[in-house]
Amino acid sequence: MRTVTESALHTDTALGLSTLLTGLPERQGFGDATLIRLADGSIDLGGGNPDTDLLPTQLYRDAANEVAASDRFAGLLRYSASAGLPSFREAIAARDQVSDDRVIVSNGGAHGLALAVLGLLDPGDTIVVDDPVYPLFLRVLDLVGVNVVAIPVAGDGIDVDVLAARLGEGLRPKALFTVPTFQNPSGVTLSAQKSEALVDLAEKYGFTIIADDPYREIVFPGVDVPDRPRLRDTDRVVAVNSFSKTLGPGLRLGWLTVPQAWSASFTKLRNRIDGQTNGVVQATVERMLADEQYEAAIAAAGERYARKAHVLTTTLRERFGDRVEVTDPTGGFFAWARLLGDFDAARLFETAQDLGVSYQRGEWFAAGSEPFRGFVRLAFSDQSEENLRAGVDRLARAWQAVLTS
Ligand SMILES: Cc1ncc(COP(=O)(O)O)c(C=O)c1O
Repeated sequence: MRTVTESALHTDTALGLSTLLTGLPERQGFGDATLIRLADGSIDLGGGNPDTDLLPTQLYRDAANEVAASDRFAGLLRYSASAGLPSFREAIAARDQVSDDRVIVSNGGAHGLALAVLGLLDPGDTIVVDDPVYPLFLRVLDLVGVNVVAIPVAGDGIDVDVLAARLGEGLRPKALFTVPTFQNPSGVTLSAQKSEALVDLAEKYGFTIIADDPYREIVFPGVDVPDRPRLRDTDRVVAVNSFSKTLGPGLRLGWLTVPQAWSASFTKLRNRIDGQTNGVVQATVERMLADEQYEAAIAAAGERYARKAHVLTTTLRERFGDRVEVTDPTGGFFAWARLLGDFDAARLFETAQDLGVSYQRGEWFAAGSEPFRGFVRLAFSDQSEENLRAGVDRLARAWQAVLTS
């Protein structure tokens, strides 16, 4: 029998917590609320929230009233299928051009990512990720404990040539994580050609692509998101989707699209963890998707986000001149900018917050050895145009104050 030493009695595990829970690292950098100082009047360019004025709240009200008044309502309060309401799965499947048995409804994107990680990875496995990466995905990986290999993101998505070279040298990942549309943080979109090359590699080397796509419907006018049929037609992609950016993160609703052969297994996993998603919420969003005004409302939001992005990048160029490198976003919520000159990025962050603006530091998106020093991720989504101008002005004053050359 194991004897418990006196000091072990005082550890969390001895007190009853699992090694998984006690081993979970604190969030560092991105997502660590202790680092963010938002005094009254501060402008927060850090978050990934939609503008609540651009959410289709009237459609919500109409749909919710209709669902509550329908014969279906009481039944929606019962336990329901783990994979989601059949009619809602059908509605999503029709939009995504996949069969409905591949769709598994989730409680938002983060939940879908956790299901993908738990369903695909074992401790010690290797996963390839975007670099820069959506940092909270790395925190989801903490649930399992895996080796992370960073592959740079180029102007048209994760660099498939670099990946092919690494695979040729013997790299054998179990999975690959990428955000294919309006990538967080860089804003780039995976081209159709690259998506084909990526799926070819996944099929050849036997890894699964986790395609995390919450921004794909936040499209600016005149921009075509490329059709990438290979991403949905292969057995090597688990797609993670969310309504958080179009209908609000408070909704907690998303879906996975998995290869048909894995649908029952992922449903079993989902069932073991939290049973199912709220039936009333599913039925309400199903009703909204069927409303002829839905697509127009989402497109109108994209138009307004485009204006905000334009204000942000124009002000950046006005205030930083040729000492900023930024690509005009074509969708999504963020501008990823590189501020030039010699300065201490930690001091810039503190000085900017003293002057009343917060943002996400580039270093927090690093997945490998590239530090992204001097980069900033600026969210234009939920601030007014006036605040975007004022926020960039404060950032520029902070940058002037910390520049050493
Ligand atoms: C790339 C990416 N994936 C997933 C999520 C999580 O989305 P959700 O709010 O649906 O959990 C986010 C949210 O910011 C995100 O940016």
